[in-house]
Amino acid sequence: MAILVTGGAGYIGSHTCVELLNAGYEAVVLDNLSNASEKSLDRVKQITGKEVKFYKGDILDRDILDKIFAENKIESCIHFAGLKAVGESVQKPWEYYHNNIAGTLTLVDAMRAHGCKNIIFSSSATVYGNPAQIPITEECPKGQCTNPYGWTKSMLEQILSDIQKADNEWNVILLRYFNPIGAHKSGLIGENPNGIPNNLMPYITQVAVGKLKELGVFGDDYDTPDGTGVRDYIHVVDLAVGHVKALKKIEENAGLSIYNLGTGQGYSVLDIVKNFEKANGVKIPYSIKPRRAGDIATCYSNADKAEKELGWKAENGILQMCEDSWRWQKNNPNGYED
Ligand code: NAD
Ligand code: UFG
Repeated sequence: MAILVTGGAGYIGSHTCVELLNAGYEAVVLDNLSNASEKSLDRVKQITGKEVKFYKGDILDRDILDKIFAENKIESCIHFAGLKAVGESVQKPWEYYHNNIAGTLTLVDAMRAHGCKNIIFSSSATVYGNPAQIPITEECPKGQCTNPYGWTKSMLEQILSDIQKADNEWNVILLRYFNPIGAHKSGLIGENPNGIPNNLMPYITQVAVGKLKELGVFGDDYDTPDGTGVRDYIHVVDLAVGHVKALKKIEENAGLSIYNLGTGQGYSVLDIVKNFEKANGVKIPYSIKPRRAGDIATCYSNADKAEKELGWKAENGILQMCEDSWRWQKNNPNGYED
């Protein structure tokens, strides 16, 4: 059974390809490589001993979508493709709305034209805005997003939900990720940000490898135990496994289903620094900086629904996540360019 993985050469997509191949699925990847290297798919092959079928192209390109559906028997689509840099989305809102929303509309139109009505969509905890309750359950109301990237996720959730309501042949699973970190245990695939990383863990690993001088901690005056921001960090391999479980749910008929994928555990920025140092024996110099615009104090999940309905639970603890993030960075200081 073939699964179309849009954005499959990227960070979460490449890890998901490994889990799909290991579970016996065929993976067909469509990626325009705007934020990825094709080498990630060579590494997927190295890990699994199996080939991914790769199409270099854009989800906005209806012709390549038609070609993929004509050449493969696609059962379901796992849709990762999208632009994801929060700060950049504030500078380039048109590009974000066009790529993420028009891209998804094009994809979904091609899917239905070819009789494929199963989609798993990469959403985000960002749709909760400043959450009304902690820990966050799926019933927590969606909130005001603070940037266009977040709005694309929120709007696409609405669009895909409406499509499913209008035609109940569709199975739509919205997966709201918390903060993915870590890398495959082999150290062969991992997160490979362009330029200076925006996210905490890649920033820390680049400090550890000597590419950056010190970590700036964005605010120590939040209403949290140590004053720094608290998040729910989840190992990317656990996240990838969550997609395989979601496919099983689709095979049993999912309708419209929404799941948080997190650990249910909150860690502060300083907790992450301490755990990284403990796991890897590397010192992370840091200094306190002003708060970053748009950040919230605390965000962590209640992920019981995914456990109950998908039989999925995050397995890796924070030390494991720190160890695996570091192995990837240490072995590949320049990402896939080495
Ligand atoms: P990523 O940038 O590594 O992967 C996205 C992939 O999509 C890249 O390989 C990129 O080249 C590709 N892409 C972008 N636009 C495309 C287009 N128009 N056509 C074809 N390919 C295109 O990011 P990731 O961290 O792996 O994230 C995957 C998905 O999960 C994204 O939709 C992202 O918004 C979402 N998400 C990520 C996080 C996170 O913190 N990493 C959190 C919540 C949600
Ligand atoms: N932080 C620092 N210094 C840094 C980077 C981050 O102190 O150099 C802090 C932030 O202030 C925050 C925490 O580390 O308290 C985590 O920040 P990230 O940028 O790693 O992650 P966010 O929680 O801000 O956002 C991420 C993704 C979003 C996604 C969200 C929820 O970037 O796309 O998780 O899934 F929507």
